[in-house]
Amino acid sequence: MVDAQIAHATQQIRAAQGGTSPRPVIESFFDEPTYTASHVVYDPVSREAAVIDSVLNYDAASGRTSSDSAQAILDFIKNENLTIVWQLETHAHADHLSAAPWLQEQLGGKLAIGAEIVRVQEVFGKIFNAGTRFARDGSQFDHLFKDGDSFRIGEIEAIALHVPGHTPADMAFVIGDAAFIGDTLFMPDFGTARADFPGGDARQLHRSIKRLLSLPRETRLFLCHDYKAPGRDHYAWETTIGAQRDSNLHVHDGISEDDFVAMRTKRDATLSLPNLIMPSVQINMRGGRLPEPEENGTRYIKIPLDTL
Ligand SMILES: [Fe+2]
Repeated sequence: MVDAQIAHATQQIRAAQGGTSPRPVIESFFDEPTYTASHVVYDPVSREAAVIDSVLNYDAASGRTSSDSAQAILDFIKNENLTIVWQLETHAHADHLSAAPWLQEQLGGKLAIGAEIVRVQEVFGKIFNAGTRFARDGSQFDHLFKDGDSFRIGEIEAIALHVPGHTPADMAFVIGDAAFIGDTLFMPDFGTARADFPGGDARQLHRSIKRLLSLPRETRLFLCHDYKAPGRDHYAWETTIGAQRDSNLHVHDGISEDDFVAMRTKRDATLSLPNLIMPSVQINMRGGRLPEPEENGTRYIKIPLDTL
């Protein structure tokens, strides 16, 4: 079957690598408490840029938020004189709060996520009893991407790919010859993302991963997380399609879909939920905006008991 979106992305990657279109420059930032890699990707000529998967720090014990991690991104953008055109989220993260609204306030850029966020809003809107005032139509975001949508960062062409499985709404962003693949694949020595959150699906994740793995081998891949694999003493978040196909623990060439689903399902059953899933999902499904303050001026996070 011809996958027109992958064919289009392949063309774009080859043009960037062949020198007929510009390659993006990427600066990554790692938030160790949540093991999250955020990326600033920019066109070195026009200096237009996008921020991908920024982190707002949150201390669960005290309920205190801070912008320390995002400040480093802000400082970099100001030092480099970049103009932010997009604040991109690969998905509604369950392990950290998004700093996109905080960065957007100071730098602008359209806040965007995958169009299937409405399914996440439906499922978690019920879990958090969000009520009728919470619109489940994605209107908290400035833009919703569908599979195959094109966009630009300066002169650099980009394409959004829908890669569900970890959540129903996951997107990968192929920007020039670099792909930002969110929670699908991790480093080859660590494997793949879990698929057991509400709305997740291991078989769907496998199909999404296989689509990504059909991109050119030289495609630069940037991940959303790294946890250090056993035997590795440093964090890493950049690899290639070729390295994933040769040696990804869970999905290297030769592993069947049924074997992957069996492995993933068995492994997911042993994982505890992320520490910050409750605050993260209820805030990130609203575009990272904190809940409105109550009449005493304080914002509160809800915890549903005996639900997840
Ligand atoms: Fe995630």
